[in-house]
Amino acid sequence: MMQLNVSLGERSYPIFIGHGLLSDGAVLRGCLQAQDLLLVSNTTVGPLYAELLTAALPDRRIVDVRLPDGEQYKTLEYVSRVLDVLVANRFGRDCTVLALGGGVVGDMAGFSAACYQRGVAFAQLPTTLLAQVDSSVGGKTGVNHPGGKNLIGAFHQPVAVFSDTATLATLPPRELRAGLAEVIKYALIFDAVFLDWLEAHAAELLALQPEALAHAIRRSCELKADVVRRDEREAGDRALLNLGHTFGHAIEAATGYTQWLHGEAVATGMLIAADMSARLGLLSDALVSRVRDLLRRFDLPVQAPRIGAQRAFDYMGVDKKVKAGRIRLVLLENLGAARFTADYSNDALQATLAAHFG
Ligand code: NAD
Ligand code: GLY
Repeated sequence: MMQLNVSLGERSYPIFIGHGLLSDGAVLRGCLQAQDLLLVSNTTVGPLYAELLTAALPDRRIVDVRLPDGEQYKTLEYVSRVLDVLVANRFGRDCTVLALGGGVVGDMAGFSAACYQRGVAFAQLPTTLLAQVDSSVGGKTGVNHPGGKNLIGAFHQPVAVFSDTATLATLPPRELRAGLAEVIKYALIFDAVFLDWLEAHAAELLALQPEALAHAIRRSCELKADVVRRDEREAGDRALLNLGHTFGHAIEAATGYTQWLHGEAVATGMLIAADMSARLGLLSDALVSRVRDLLRRFDLPVQAPRIGAQRAFDYMGVDKKVKAGRIRLVLLENLGAARFTADYSNDALQATLAAHFG
């Protein structure tokens, strides 16, 4: 088992990464002191893993809530149902909410904890690779609104993150690859050495080799913990984590959020960002090819749907990163170095969109 720390003063917390953590009562009890625990999962993850967890904490009162599975249920209505259960069971401010599942459950359980009695403790027990490397760390919680994704939310840091790599064995392979896209994202933004390592270990990662997975999760969490420590509220560097997201947002929105997984859209979006960086003279064509080859090695898509440059531009314009009418983008200055900027030529953006979206 490995342990990292997210350093945020009195809101600091540990991240544990290990095989079989969900049944490791000693580690769980070390961070979860509350007698009353609300275990939030969904109808897919709950039947697989909730019992392991409750068996590991026999001395606690654990109330189990299972949400329907899917991004479409990441709404205030379902957060309200979680709050109803907390109230109905007379949970006090000393309770802890446990988020067992992927990013959807994590964001909703975390937001419920942020709202209940003006904020109670919560812990993340992520069961998708995306949640283990990204959404469980950093304290962004919330729900979608008909007007946009993640529009309602709060920063609320967990008290601990327990990433049990054994849970990835039941994850659909497509979801695993979507999580690997986020791992590649950290390497492209921050760490060229990690990128070399990913190129060399793609086969082991896709085959769920435990040591390779643990290393990829640990390095991703270290990189994310470091940027969250520097910029918890996304006033600066944390925005770099949006590499590929603005182009990816156009892909997701144009395809109705149903055909592409978020990580798949981010993968293609990162390639488009690399290509635009090359058009601006920041990156060589050889490095763009290296990004494309790496994504292909992980069986991630590299071709955007041919929705047309104008439509892609329109979708990018409703992204949250637009400021004063200008789309801000994360561009690559090298592999392992990125910048968040509105300072680029419109011609380069239009040429990039035409090349990828038709
Ligand atoms: P998800 O939570 O929808 O999980 C994907 C699917 O896998 C679901 O059907 C889920 O039930 C299933 N699943 C989860 N764990 C499983 C397991 N071990 N075995 C079998 N099936 C399993 O999707 P996700 O990719 O984990 O998260 C996406 C969400 O995360 C989005 O809502 C996104 O907005 C959010 N997100 C939040 C942050 C943040 O910082 N808070 C960062 C990135 C993404
Ligand atoms: N997933 C982006 C962030 O946490 O800031």
